[in-house]
Amino acid sequence: MNHPRLATTPAELSKAITELLEATGKDRPALGLVPTMGALHQGHAALAQAARADNDVVVASIFVNPLQFDDPDDLARYPRTLEADLALLGEAGVDIVFAPAEETMYPGGAPLVRVSSGDLGNRFEGAFRPGHFDGVLTVVAKLLHCAQPAVPAEYRAYFGQKDAQQVALIRRMVADLNFPVQVFPVPIVRAEDGLAESSRNVFLGPEQRKDALVLSQALFQLQERAAAGRPLDLPAAVELITSRGGVELDYFEVVDPLTLAALPAGPSDTLSGPALALVAARVGSIRLIDNAELSG
Ligand code: PAJ
Repeated sequence: MNHPRLATTPAELSKAITELLEATGKDRPALGLVPTMGALHQGHAALAQAARADNDVVVASIFVNPLQFDDPDDLARYPRTLEADLALLGEAGVDIVFAPAEETMYPGGAPLVRVSSGDLGNRFEGAFRPGHFDGVLTVVAKLLHCAQPAVPAEYRAYFGQKDAQQVALIRRMVADLNFPVQVFPVPIVRAEDGLAESSRNVFLGPEQRKDALVLSQALFQLQERAAAGRPLDLPAAVELITSRGGVELDYFEVVDPLTLAALPAGPSDTLSGPALALVAARVGSIRLIDNAELSG
């Protein structure tokens, strides 16, 4: 197993990146960045493996970003498992782990100037978590700057499709603000029972976990109908979820994969192009999100 180098300040990170990029001896080596909040699982491992496969040097960051939590209790109970995280990242072949303290990332407290996620950041997850995506984009901007290679190099960043709205917004930030990085989405990793891997799944009791499966089942139902060229009948998929006791649906919609604009998905609507089904629900006090690509 590889033992990643640990950096806790932007200066240490930059020095480690330069050393490893120069050690490749290449004119233009490639650097891959995998931002995370720790409490790592197989979904994060897939991101690290994708970055490892494509790049000469791989950096993962672990930082529980207070700016993106609208609920202080959610922040306080977010799982923190640094030792296990370092082992998982080492196993995946990550070279450098950037794990800054909160005071290092926000020395003067919460930053005055932030990235605005606009209308796209106020819908779906943003409607239920005010300010969430401004906090995400602000920290991702900072992390992208901290890991930016100081010598000529390809620069790539990896994000999971599990957080589809987050990927859409990060793509927009990178395009709209000319960040010199390429964004790579990585497919959702699911447990054997179909539940999308998430750091919050550890909070689900055995019965709640069974209840939570209704989300992926509803998504798979839509995927099957789309693949067969049949009408999507989103209301029937909604019904599958709402009829399950213990699950409170927040939203379930079929949208354009890039703009997240709503698409017609009634009992007589068939797909005319690629689409994404987005779902969010609460199981007890645990909020879960999931999504699936639909194609005819
Ligand atoms: P976190 O929830 O730790 O997720 C880190 C990355 O792992 C994200 O890109 C997320 O989409 C991806 N991921 C999580 N579960 C996944 C799964 N089951 N399959 C595939 N990828 C998965 O997302 C964040 O942290 C933060 O918002 C962050 C981008 C780090 C900014 O703070």
